[in-house]
Amino acid sequence: MSSDPYSNNTDAEHHVQLSLAQTLCEAASTGVDTALAREILDQLVAYSDVHFLSEQLLMRLCSYPDYDDHLADHDRLMLKLEAARQRDGEEQTLTPPEAEAILALLAQHISTRDRRFVDFFRDWSRHATQVESVSGT
Ligand SMILES: [Fe+2]
Repeated sequence: MSSDPYSNNTDAEHHVQLSLAQTLCEAASTGVDTALAREILDQLVAYSDVHFLSEQLLMRLCSYPDYDDHLADHDRLMLKLEAARQRDGEEQTLTPPEAEAILALLAQHISTRDRRFVDFFRDWSRHATQVESVSGT
């Protein structure tokens, strides 16, 4: 378990992202309330946009070596989310397979690239804290 606030916060944000995507799947599969599904999709897009930016700032802060690859995956995910929202806005309801595909992509990203980044950041943060305490700053 991580002890620095940035890693904890990033883990918490991933949990929110997955919860929103899971709720989107449930809303899409019931098909009763398309307005609710649209609202959840809007929230997922907005939340993911802010979360990805904050993660990218942390990557820059610690000079993360896989930044470009990770950024490209964020861009792909945002394109998928925006495309789903665009279709949904054209009065075509998000289908259950589309919602499940979004959940699967996010889960895949979080369990691979994000896991590697959080581990890297935790080590970097621990090292930076040790350097600070040795130098007395
Ligand atoms: Fe990420």
